[in-house]
Amino acid sequence: MYNKVLKNGLVFWGDNFIKADIAINNEKIAAIGSDLNGSENIDVTGRWVLPGAIDAHTHFSLPFAGAVSADDFFTGTRAGAIGGVTTIIDFLAQQGEEGIMESFLRRLAQAQGEAVVDFSFHACIGRFSPEVEKQMPELLSKGLNSLKIFTAYGKSGLMQTDFNLLRIMKACHENGIMLTVHAENGLLIDALLENSGENPGIEALPLTRPVLTEVEAIRRVGWFARETGCMTYIVHTSSGDGAKAINELRQAGAPVIGETCPQYLYLDDSKLVSPDGHYFGCCPPIREKSQQKGLWQQIETGSIAVVATDHCPFTRADKDLWQGSINKLPMGLPGIETLPALILNRNQAINQVAAIKAISENPARLFGLYPEKGSLEPGTDADIMVFDPNLEWEISNKDLHMATDYSPYEGLKVKGKNTMTMLRGKIVYCSKNGWKGDCGGGQFLPRKKADSSFFT
Ligand code: URP
Ligand code: ZN
Ligand code: ZN
Repeated sequence: MYNKVLKNGLVFWGDNFIKADIAINNEKIAAIGSDLNGSENIDVTGRWVLPGAIDAHTHFSLPFAGAVSADDFFTGTRAGAIGGVTTIIDFLAQQGEEGIMESFLRRLAQAQGEAVVDFSFHACIGRFSPEVEKQMPELLSKGLNSLKIFTAYGKSGLMQTDFNLLRIMKACHENGIMLTVHAENGLLIDALLENSGENPGIEALPLTRPVLTEVEAIRRVGWFARETGCMTYIVHTSSGDGAKAINELRQAGAPVIGETCPQYLYLDDSKLVSPDGHYFGCCPPIREKSQQKGLWQQIETGSIAVVATDHCPFTRADKDLWQGSINKLPMGLPGIETLPALILNRNQAINQVAAIKAISENPARLFGLYPEKGSLEPGTDADIMVFDPNLEWEISNKDLHMATDYSPYEGLKVKGKNTMTMLRGKIVYCSKNGWKGDCGGGQFLPRKKADSSFFT
């Protein structure tokens, strides 16, 4: 007799759906089979039983342009869990003169008291110093196996020079650390911004950060990756052209892979007009509709292996601080709660297996969490999303739980929705009884090295 059994579901197993029961003992998946019985049996007939989703790109409590992103680790992970997310990877952000290890301890303390799902961090280089290269073994010893850098945001001092980029990539390769890159041509963006007058409005966002700035940076970083052998993950690829560039680089032998986000798959630049366009401001910006098809296509080829959210929500009041200038606009959008529904949306023509893997198995493998996370293997963590593939609903901020007061997807009709989330065997959300998780119930996940087979 097992603790719990989810009965008669369509269990995602070996890249297929099988009609089966799935049994849970304590925190682990105990068995998949037929006629399994537990102290608690839950009928999930007709529903998909999937690994809990992993959001590999969140920014909780991130200071940006005079505001702080509205979700903290509690509200953000709770909203994620309601949507079906059971693991998040956020970022270390160095403050002032702080070293990377100090920023880790500070962020860890913040998340440990708040997160309701399991969590990890990407280390992040704010300012480059040769110390960074020396700190890599220590990062690894803490299970921080990915490092984020920027080729943009020159004004805030985050942008790396090409020379430092090359150094960092060599050091990452030597240490087996995966480099994650915000790839935009920051020099060109800054020059375009300087030529846009005192207060460039929201219409200037795509003009000063055109697709060219993304494609050029991806190609440059990709060639550096080919030269150094550094496993390189391009975050928030916003354009079909950028996704195609990643695919071409991979064919040319560069160890590069991409991530995109729901905003680039669903929203387009027709939203970037006054008076409300600034509520859609993020970097890179949302693109022309014609760019979306290439992103969906590259999810299917696997060159865009991960869909994560870049969840960085602000309230309308925060966004209104912009005073009509994108130079003062807190950039970022909410998204963690709607990630699984938007990517598994059955109104969207997408290969379902590729879509499921892009929010579970692939980020788990790439970020060293597999099979404990991102799989339904017996013996691994019972992190489960029970997804109703036929539930039709319309996204409205009034029904969502993120700490912002608007949704960029307001009114979008979606087919399919999470109905139950289990974190290490505990039901933390179910659509009948609502939220049942614990503040601080999430655990820090030290990670292994990336699965290098993604890069060969
Ligand atoms: O606009 C965005 N993406 N805000 C969050 C920071 C970043 O660049 O990922
Ligand atoms: Zn970024
Ligand atoms: Zn981000």
